[in-house]
Amino acid sequence: MVFVYPGSFDPITNGHMDIIFRAVRICDKLIVAVGSNESKKPAFSTEERIELIRCALEGREDVVVTSFSGLLADFVKRVGAKTVIKGLRAMSDFEYELQMAHLNKNLEPDMETLFMMTNVNYSYLSSSAVKEIAKNGGKIDGLVPECIKDRIIEKLTCK
Ligand code: PNS
Repeated sequence: MVFVYPGSFDPITNGHMDIIFRAVRICDKLIVAVGSNESKKPAFSTEERIELIRCALEGREDVVVTSFSGLLADFVKRVGAKTVIKGLRAMSDFEYELQMAHLNKNLEPDMETLFMMTNVNYSYLSSSAVKEIAKNGGKIDGLVPECIKDRIIEKLTCK
């Protein structure tokens, strides 16, 4: 079974990585799909976000990283998948994700959205928090994959 894990990944965090590693164990192929959330202006370009994810996943041949534009439901159908997986950190995520799941179901009745509870160690973590910490000179160790940490800091502090 092919799962699609969509998100802004601006940038990818260890919370996202945890979902990826757990999701690959329950599907045959995982497609990490970088999309755009109309309500957010990304700090990293789509290409940069893909590059950071690929770098963090180096050596993992069971995960494909790509991007999509337009509707997620159309992308999922185009790649021959039926299942979208999303991480849920807290109740605050739930309302938005529930709405998305229903809208996507309405657009593509064959598509299912599965929710995986984010590892409790990362329940407080978000890409926005990582950006705010990095921009203000704080440490992002342990919040993002080690191999992309410096690139994130460099980009956000314009070094
Ligand atoms: O990491 P995010 O911000 O939760 O990711 C959101 C994303 C990109 C997965 C979501 O905004 C999305 O699916 N965008 C594509 C447009 C779409 O299909 N929207 C749902 C119907 S309104």
